Amino acid sequence: MKQNAIYPGSFDPLTNGHIHLVSRALEIFESLTLAVAQNSGKAKVFSLPERLAMLERVFQKESRVFIESFDGLLVDFVRKKRDSVVLRGIRTNLDFEYELALAQANRHLSRDVETVFMLTDPEFSFLSSSMIREIVSLGGSTQGMLPDFIEEALRERLKKGESS
Ligand code: PNS
Repeated sequence: MKQNAIYPGSFDPLTNGHIHLVSRALEIFESLTLAVAQNSGKAKVFSLPERLAMLERVFQKESRVFIESFDGLLVDFVRKKRDSVVLRGIRTNLDFEYELALAQANRHLSRDVETVFMLTDPEFSFLSSSMIREIVSLGGSTQGMLPDFIEEALRERLKKGESS
């Protein structure tokens, strides 16, 4: 039996959609490993240590959530863990195309790796890190979309026009 779910992502930044999925996944799995991708091919607003620190802060009271980073292929990270499946959230049919390809590529790379999908709650189905970055960079409100301290850090970072 698989007891741990590995929830991989860029988390640039972590959103309330991610947080909600984590809380629901904890109803199903004994533990959850949030695996922050060091290099997922996209330019980042926040560095890896910054993203890890944000996740650590948000989940500090949750003893069943573990924060780690990985570099290279996800399947290599998953193989090193015991009793783990990959967990990904699906918001819309647009996500499905991408997630299907990702899961199948991972399965092609390693037959041992199973991916489990959870459907995002409708409340969060429009929410993405990239949309939040765009709204903040254009001066809009992202109230309720991400933790306040992350929103502040994002506003500060995008004001300066910096990225990692
Ligand atoms: O939050 P994201 O950006 O949608 O997460 C994508 C992520 C990090 C899960 C994906 O890009 C990934 O697994 N990257 C690691 C490299 C890899 O294993 N790619 C899959 C084989 S093509």
